[in-house]
Amino acid sequence: MSDVAEPQETVELKIGEESYSLPVITGSYQEKGIDISKLLKTTGHVTFDEGFKNTGSTTSSITFIDGIKGILEHRGYPIEQLADHSSFTEVMFLLLNTELPSATELSHFEQKLKDNATPPVGLRAILDSLPREAHPMSMIGTIISALPGFYPESVDSWKNEDIRWNTIYRLLGHMPAMVAYVYRRRQGLAYIDPDPSLGYVENFLHMMYGEVNAEVAEALDTLLVLHADHEQNCSAATVRMAGSSHVNLFAAIAAGNSALWGPLHGGANQKVIEMLEAIREDGGDTQKYIDKAKDKEDPFRLMGFGHRVYKNFDPRAKVIKMYTDKVLDALNIDDPVLDIAKGLEKEAIADPYFSSRKLFPNVDFYSGIIYRALGIPVPMFTVMFALGRLPGWIAQWKELRESGQAIGRPRQIYTGYTKRDYTPMEDRS
Ligand code: SDX
Repeated sequence: MSDVAEPQETVELKIGEESYSLPVITGSYQEKGIDISKLLKTTGHVTFDEGFKNTGSTTSSITFIDGIKGILEHRGYPIEQLADHSSFTEVMFLLLNTELPSATELSHFEQKLKDNATPPVGLRAILDSLPREAHPMSMIGTIISALPGFYPESVDSWKNEDIRWNTIYRLLGHMPAMVAYVYRRRQGLAYIDPDPSLGYVENFLHMMYGEVNAEVAEALDTLLVLHADHEQNCSAATVRMAGSSHVNLFAAIAAGNSALWGPLHGGANQKVIEMLEAIREDGGDTQKYIDKAKDKEDPFRLMGFGHRVYKNFDPRAKVIKMYTDKVLDALNIDDPVLDIAKGLEKEAIADPYFSSRKLFPNVDFYSGIIYRALGIPVPMFTVMFALGRLPGWIAQWKELRESGQAIGRPRQIYTGYTKRDYTPMEDRS
């Protein structure tokens, strides 16, 4: 990456008779951003962009997405190559350290995760105090939020290099057990301790089910790679916003976990399966549900379809769709909702409503079918998304803190009452 200052490209903004020159930031792939950092001070105007559909909140060197071409790269490596050749722990290292690890670096990194595989036993008591039927995203959020209580030095996670990395290793190392604890609590099963002889994903399956199926482990490792990061999505942006207040890493991640829970974001994978099941129970009439999704009077949306950035196929959905066939074949599972999903995809893509709005399957459309084939209960799907996204959230938090960015504090356009005097109770109607 060039460190020579490029001549400053600018654009002109005309307000009334005044003309203002605004600098332009150029990205690695020549994407352009108009820098409005001084707009309010120089023009007295703020911008307005509900949902930040046109607003870049940061520069970042972690992940690149081209929504038109359907490209996703982590530190320059295409997601398809990482899914084929890498592993979840190697992608964690890449996201956090910019480069792929040597064999020694990977071994050292994985050992750090193993050293932190066992969360504080107090988390079990916290889970045991929650209703067994509590939503798994509520459960995992509760115990993530509890971690600073067990690691008081993490409250200033950025204090020094050792505390910073110990906090990162603890969270990455603990998460598989924490997710498995949530599963076991909901199932009313005894907790299973980590087995240090196993790899990261194998250990997770061991703590979930007490056994490890090699094909399931391989498929799950790839699924987690595909979920690892996705630049400034809703939950990562939430982690950055919370992190910008200099709150500890655990609390910033808990904030991101809450954002992921929403059905328009990570909660969609649970909604997709519920939608496919409803279609199956309704006789498999996919066209009826496509018509519902198109009907503006009907709040129903085709869950797992559409994306804020991808206006082409989500590259992750392509890989997951291929893996779905592979996993179901390997496990000798015939899941009727897979055929419904494929039929729905085919009909929707051919329908002008979807094609004109560039609505394609996203990462959530097929992932739930694999999770279900791997024996993961539907309400746990979004927790699985959180397990996969955790290294990305941490990498985004780390990059934010390294950059020394100011606390996030968006402006607004006020549209309420103008100044008025207090109305005494006796004068109110
Ligand atoms: C994730 O940001 C990320 O990177 C997220 C993510 C990640 O890895 O972090 O990729 C993970 O969150 C994937 C998305 C999971 N959500 C869903 O699958 C829920 C269903 N999808 C939609 O709710 C929607 O597509 C969003 C929320 C994903 C994107 O919404 P946008 O960008 O705000 O688009 P929009 O709501 O403005 O929709 C544009 C048009 C509208 O119609 P018109 O007003 O133009 O007539 O498309 C329609 C929408 O009504 N539309 C849909 C639709 N999605 C958009 N119509 C029917 N079904 C859908 N799913």
